[in-house]
Amino acid sequence: MNFDFPARRARIARALALTDEVLLIGSGHPLPKPEISDALLPYIAHQEYYFLTGHLDAIGGILAFDPRDGAWTSFVPEVTEMDRVWEGREQLPGEPLTSFPAWFSARRGRPVVLLGAPVSGISADETRTAAVRERYKHARRPKEAAEIAVLQRGAAATAAGYAAIQPLLRPGVSERTLQIELEAEYFRHGAQTTGYDSIVGVGPQSAVFHGSPSPDRVARNGDFILIDSGAQVDRYVTDVTRTYVAGRASPFQRDLYQVVLGAQERTCALCRPGAEWKDLHYATATDLMTGLAAMGVVRGNPSSLVEQEVHTLFYPHGLGHMVGLGVRDASGLEPGRTRDPRPSLRSLRMDLILREGYVVTVEPGLYFIPALLRDAGRRSRYAQAVDWDLVDRHLHLGGVRIEDNLLVTAGAPLNLTAAIPKDLK
Ligand code: GLY
Ligand code: MN
Ligand code: MN
Repeated sequence: MNFDFPARRARIARALALTDEVLLIGSGHPLPKPEISDALLPYIAHQEYYFLTGHLDAIGGILAFDPRDGAWTSFVPEVTEMDRVWEGREQLPGEPLTSFPAWFSARRGRPVVLLGAPVSGISADETRTAAVRERYKHARRPKEAAEIAVLQRGAAATAAGYAAIQPLLRPGVSERTLQIELEAEYFRHGAQTTGYDSIVGVGPQSAVFHGSPSPDRVARNGDFILIDSGAQVDRYVTDVTRTYVAGRASPFQRDLYQVVLGAQERTCALCRPGAEWKDLHYATATDLMTGLAAMGVVRGNPSSLVEQEVHTLFYPHGLGHMVGLGVRDASGLEPGRTRDPRPSLRSLRMDLILREGYVVTVEPGLYFIPALLRDAGRRSRYAQAVDWDLVDRHLHLGGVRIEDNLLVTAGAPLNLTAAIPKDLK
């Protein structure tokens, strides 16, 4: 890890533009497992704390800032003998947490902004906290060169995982086997964990967005295999999806795949400074509708199909999100905006103007999801716009998603996950 924390803190202090507030950023505490034992769920410090301290697993840490003197103070837990014996912890640099109450009392009566995780006994000014959090998030959006270097290490580990499973992508392989081999290879290439729970779905399960891999679901000849998984390195996440076919793909599957691939690649190329993310989302939806119309699944002018929200039957999620320090990182709203109420944007995780240094996922997909496509209301509303007989013939086909991580630059975007081939097989 090669981050310049003093420079980072100075930059963030300028961006937050505090005057009299006391700023506290809590690291958080691990949660016990929901059972009667002393075991804990996996823990990492809150991203807002980690970004300014580099302490990945500090428990109960508080980073404090006083804009009156411009000084940051890091209060860290005192490591105990038990911590050393059971967890192998070492003392983090900083002031002991026991000196925090005196520091805070000396600033009594001033408004408190509390970022990161809650700090016991502290109540914050909610309105100011929300405004400062937005400013902090916005200042974190463009990635520093050192962050991009970590993301590249994560992308390389992820690419190694996807390369390792290529020979296994055959009929007879289980979702669990693919998960095991993929994740093992991430670890062999420097990952500390996965970026999120790996999603591996075969056949109809490929259309379950956040499904868990099962040892019992096994690919049959002609099944889609969708894998959405990435490595995590130094708390930075890679978020990649590839879709394959076990054995022989049908012409319909190949066409569907090419529609998604074409839309994904055209949208990747549009990830340039100044682009409106929701415009890219709608452009992708129109591209997907053009492809589905050519396949005969939908009927009509692609733009008008998007206006009628026909695309949400087959593409019911957003184009993507920021990725980095967490799988959604600093997604959200452009400063000064409120949430766009259009129903077709409900699942869009950000409403931002792209800028140099942003890292975003581009992840369009097309799916046959029985829970949506069997719905009588949708069938009646879109009776003319959809060839429902064709849909019924493919209701259990699953779906296709392709996801890369793009760095927005002054010129053409850099695809950080380009080393993972996009062949259907
Ligand atoms: N990995 C979940 C997502 O792509 O949003
Ligand atoms: Mn993903
Ligand atoms: Mn994603």
